[in-house]
Amino acid sequence: MRLSDVRELVRVQRPQLHPDARALHRCHSVEDFRRAARRRLPRGAFDYIDGGAGDEHSMRANEAAFGDYELYPSTLRGVEDTDTTVDILGRRSALPLGLAPTGFTRMAHTDGERAVARAAGGAGIPYALSTMGTVSIEELAAVADFDHWFQLYIWRDRGLSRDLVDRAAASGYRVLMITVDTPVSGHRERDLRNGFTIPPELRPGMVADIALHARCGFGCCATGRSPSRTSVPPTGRIPPGSWRSSPPSSIPASPGTTSSSSVPGGTDRWS
Ligand SMILES: Cc1cc2nc3c(=O)[nH]c(=O)nc-3n(C[C@H](O)[C@H](O)[C@H](O)COP(=O)(O)O)c2cc1C
Repeated sequence: MRLSDVRELVRVQRPQLHPDARALHRCHSVEDFRRAARRRLPRGAFDYIDGGAGDEHSMRANEAAFGDYELYPSTLRGVEDTDTTVDILGRRSALPLGLAPTGFTRMAHTDGERAVARAAGGAGIPYALSTMGTVSIEELAAVADFDHWFQLYIWRDRGLSRDLVDRAAASGYRVLMITVDTPVSGHRERDLRNGFTIPPELRPGMVADIALHARCGFGCCATGRSPSRTSVPPTGRIPPGSWRSSPPSSIPASPGTTSSSSVPGGTDRWS
């Protein structure tokens, strides 16, 4: 067989040269992304994102509950007018979902919240910046054309909470989500075993782990950003006792239930 015959039968794929592009090319499911993250991130960071509290029974149950949903196919119905848009708290979203707030997102990648916001903008869905975000409220407000939501943990020092809400409202965030199920930090066993804290404290074992994952390198640290640019004052500077029932150096950002309210015009006060 001649080369020209082969060319007619197969297409030659260009190799992906950039390691990120190569890794993404191999991901076809959430589990693929999870495996890629496990390879890429230091153990502490991966377990913080992947893990739950206690023996992770609720986490597994929550995941299993998705298996109860079935999608019924509708055939011979015509597909030219499919519409996945839906109204979420007064604004049209391209899909019936949004991107949830996550604390310390730049621990996973230097672009952190900015990348998530760009993805939300591209997909036409909302995204909520976490109180424990690693870019400031104002910086993220300027990033992309997406539906800006802000998630609030209520601090014992009500002035701190009020200040965050004022800043979010002034920056044009449209929806305030209040996380109500984290009055105390979860007993997150993976984090305890890894000696992992929020904000991350460097320990000898961790340094080696981070060095082995240099391309991730704890984004918050790698970019050398001043913590004063996070949405909340750096945890260490939060006045003692601000966090409702546990010291702020513990991990408040465990998976949480949130309630949301829409702010007409995006600049009204939340009260
Ligand atoms: C790594 C990680 C960090 C999170 N950080 C926050 C946070 O800062 N604030 C918050 O309200 N919820 C936080 N959550 C909870 C999520 O916003 C979301 O409510 C939860 O993960 C359930 O959604 P899911 O089933 O899509 O994961 C976090 C969740 C994870 C996994």
